[in-house]
Amino acid sequence: MGEVKKKRLKKAALVLLVCIVFIGLGTFGGIQYVTGAGNVKHDSNETILPSQGSSQSALVIYQPGRSEFSKDIAYNLAKGLNDSGYEVNINYPGEFLPSDLGNYDIVALGTTVYNGNFSPVLGDYVSGIKNIDNSKVLIYSTGMMTDNTSELDGLSKLLYRKADYQEKFYSNEQETEVTRAYEFGSSLGEP
Ligand SMILES: Cc1cc2nc3c(=O)[nH]c(=O)nc-3n(C[C@H](O)[C@H](O)[C@H](O)COP(=O)(O)O)c2cc1C
Repeated sequence: MGEVKKKRLKKAALVLLVCIVFIGLGTFGGIQYVTGAGNVKHDSNETILPSQGSSQSALVIYQPGRSEFSKDIAYNLAKGLNDSGYEVNINYPGEFLPSDLGNYDIVALGTTVYNGNFSPVLGDYVSGIKNIDNSKVLIYSTGMMTDNTSELDGLSKLLYRKADYQEKFYSNEQETEVTRAYEFGSSLGEP
């Protein structure tokens, strides 16, 4: 092989290597960005859906992901509860929330799931919750894997009492799952 050809081959190999490194770093960075959503501490973002006459109230606390899916699930769950007559308070988890939830008849706690892990930010909040002995409690997750719900078991263990319901909403069937969240909220709101 001639010297010129060898040099060209070396250059091509170097360019290929640099490309592989960049693609690898980009993919790694992208995955880190997505999976980091469960660790983000958001400011309070309270939304209240006022009740239509009843004095019952519900709380929906959810950790958002990078897409709108977790938000859509939380808001549709809340809408279902609201249409069943509840005032609904929706927010992110955080230190700004009360830990004594004795005022709420229904408490729903929703986590993202990446690599089998629930959101540590929601986990921190859940482990401090008090006074929900008389409330209906739902723990749910928004993820893709239909054959693994270990995040729900992990999160449930942090709550001082057993949740009444555990549910997972699947991001690979967004449209039907958003409708199911609404229906789930409506049925949760039934006496
Ligand atoms: C790197 C990575 C790991 C994931 N791990 C899980 C998992 O262990 N279990 C699961 O149900 N879904 C898993 N998912 C799917 C996400 O939970 C699902 O896409 C979710 O809706 C993400 O919300 P987002 O796109 O709004 O961030 C994973 C997604 C990514 C990108």
